[in-house]
Amino acid sequence: MFNLAGEFFAVDAACPHMGADLSNGSISGNTLTCAWHHWQFHLRSGDGLTRDWARLTVHRLMREGDDLVLEIVDSTASTESPTGDLSGQDVTP
Ligand code: FES
Repeated sequence: MFNLAGEFFAVDAACPHMGADLSNGSISGNTLTCAWHHWQFHLRSGDGLTRDWARLTVHRLMREGDDLVLEIVDSTASTESPTGDLSGQDVTP
């Protein structure tokens, strides 16, 4: 869970590259950078900035009084996996 100037975002903890704990990453603006191999993700959209197929699932957080309510998004429904011939793509860390 991240607090960007009072706006809260929640993403899955595991990096889609090799599973690093994204809570150990760093944030600059709207960009989350994984601590292991520095792949980057847009925190609001979940878009992969290093590899477009490596997306984060962004969960909704709503404020209810003093509480934050998390609505879990099914990551299997929103995540696209690379398919087909990847021989021409760079998939190395
Ligand atoms: S595990 Fe996150 S970039 Fe490699």
